[in-house]
Amino acid sequence: MDGGMNGPIVPGMTSATPQAYRDGMAHVAGHVHVVTTAGAAGTSGFTAIAVASVSDDPPTMLVCLNRKSLNGGLIEANGVFAVNALPAGAEVLAETFAGRRGLAGADRFAFGSWSTLSTGSPTLDEALVSFDCRLAEVRPVATHIIVIGQVVAVRVGPAGAALAYFDRAYRPIPR
Ligand SMILES: Cc1cc2nc3c(=O)[nH]c(=O)nc-3n(C[C@H](O)[C@H](O)[C@H](O)COP(=O)(O)O)c2cc1C
Repeated sequence: MDGGMNGPIVPGMTSATPQAYRDGMAHVAGHVHVVTTAGAAGTSGFTAIAVASVSDDPPTMLVCLNRKSLNGGLIEANGVFAVNALPAGAEVLAETFAGRRGLAGADRFAFGSWSTLSTGSPTLDEALVSFDCRLAEVRPVATHIIVIGQVVAVRVGPAGAALAYFDRAYRPIPR
């Protein structure tokens, strides 16, 4: 019997409560990213699965960010951000940038090795790929903001397996 917070994993339909939605999303695999920003307002970053490609012309990406995160204000003020796709084995980075290791703001960059491309937002040297973005638009939706960026630089990193999150756990995706 499953009496826990996450609900039973059984096939079937239910009305779309927030818990049912979260349980449903546990069945969707997503690449884990670290989204960063730097500028006059400060340096910070957070772990995000809710990242998507919008268009290749002009190259455009979006990130969904909880309004409670301090990162939203920093990205809006700095006007730039970078999306770093994590490699398998980067669980410590993912947990650090999810705020689960007691670090905030620039202190989260103690893990990993970091560079910059065009905008000054930190890019992770070990990332499978990094997309450097100028902020184009911010749209509030429900509990989140959708941060839309125009991609101004792309850096492909070392080839390797990807870090995904699926069924509430980190999982490697082989290349
Ligand atoms: C695997 C994983 C994926 C996450 N994906 C997102 C996401 O897509 N959007 C989001 O707002 N928060 C996401 N979070 C939570 C944020 O990383 C976390 O709330 C954030 O780092 C807190 O930052 P703050 O301390 O600056 O507010 C995710 C956390 C984990 C562990």
